[in-house]
Amino acid sequence: MKILVVGGGGREHAIARALARNSETEIFSVMAKQNPGISRIAKGVRFCRETDIPRIMSYAQETGVEYAFIGPEAPLEAGIVDQLESAGIDCVGPTRAAARIETDKAFCRGMMDQHNIDGCPKYRVFHTPADAISFINDHDGDLAIKPIGLTGGKGVRIMGEQVDRAGAIAYVKSLSGGVVLEERLIGEEFTLQAFVDGIRLVPMPLVQDHKRAFDGDLGPNTGGMGSYSMPDHMLPFVSKGDYKKALAIMHSTVAALERTGHPYKGILYGQFMNTAKGPKVIEFNARFGDPEAMNVLSLLKSDLSDIVVNITRGSLSAANVAFDQKATVCKYIVPEGYPDSAAAGDPIMIGTHTGALLYYANVEERGGKLSTLSSRTLAFVGIGPTLEEAEKSAELSASAVKGRVRYRRDIGTKALLDRRIAHMKELR
Ligand code: AMP
Ligand code: GLY
Repeated sequence: MKILVVGGGGREHAIARALARNSETEIFSVMAKQNPGISRIAKGVRFCRETDIPRIMSYAQETGVEYAFIGPEAPLEAGIVDQLESAGIDCVGPTRAAARIETDKAFCRGMMDQHNIDGCPKYRVFHTPADAISFINDHDGDLAIKPIGLTGGKGVRIMGEQVDRAGAIAYVKSLSGGVVLEERLIGEEFTLQAFVDGIRLVPMPLVQDHKRAFDGDLGPNTGGMGSYSMPDHMLPFVSKGDYKKALAIMHSTVAALERTGHPYKGILYGQFMNTAKGPKVIEFNARFGDPEAMNVLSLLKSDLSDIVVNITRGSLSAANVAFDQKATVCKYIVPEGYPDSAAAGDPIMIGTHTGALLYYANVEERGGKLSTLSSRTLAFVGIGPTLEEAEKSAELSASAVKGRVRYRRDIGTKALLDRRIAHMKELR
């Protein structure tokens, strides 16, 4: 098959690599900047903004691709799938209307409400800063403040933790659009991703991402600093009952979108907070998570090209999707100062990375030399029979990188996992 992969980050490198395991699949890529990993795999590359639909359309037609796999959310919001499908190109990714589950947080909560979907926190939608501010002024206790639209994963502020009331008000004033104010959920976060064909859903192993910039979950939120998954595809602070509830929420969501005439096709990403009362939905994303895609796609034993065909035809089946029973630990290398003032343009050198998989992200390669750009640089994924072995492998490679970069040492360590488990015990 010929397939267009849209996007140029670590996530899309993982998608391209998984597709390329089928030697008959020809990959074409559209990305804003050269990802050296994707360029090496792809048969052709077009550099353009991932939201430049006319240019992407003309490249798709030039290359004659039959399929497209949309990595990031911005092109989904721009309606890329509607356009590609009207030209007869089948997509892994929802239409613009179905992608609102991610691109419009007010729509997402409203849909959960209307269809009585479990796991929706208490929330209020405000279309003007003045109304939100008056609510904040009268509110006792904590709140999660979320811009309605896309923010690259960096838009949420927690009043009561990251900001006080004055900070919350200043933040709302600084935003251009509306906000959703939500009950602050307390618990442990986990990610459940699934392949969806419009009706059926096939889940992938659970992953835990780390949004905060520094060890110990300190510092500002980032796009995600790294993530891990366990050999049994579960997480030790998520019970079987919690898992069932989370999966049922995902099923209900797919069914609700189908009922409203916007069937969901692609990757559905559920971010959950496992609270004292079970899993609650922090948000849905209309695509793979980055870094979480690297964990699950590194374990995928089945042919992703085949899964693409089944997603687009509506013939997905769990029998055709299998993952290795191994642990993964993904560590992102980022420029010093990321996310607030990233040191871009600095040379970096990769040391030995025997064992761990290397995924490129926002990095420049010139004459065989790598240098940082302003976002996450590259990631290592360690794989092993235990979490400890996977972590060692990722750590060995990450610690061998030279340059003005950093990463989180604690991701996938026993100490961190024990803290998560203890936190969950304390809550219940
Ligand atoms: P998001 O941009 O929706 O992925 O949110 C970023 C981070 O904000 C999440 O990973 C959570 O840690 C936090 N967050 C979002 N919503 C809530 C909530 N209702 N309660 C507590 N934390 C939240
Ligand atoms: N890792 C979080 C995200 O992709 O949104």
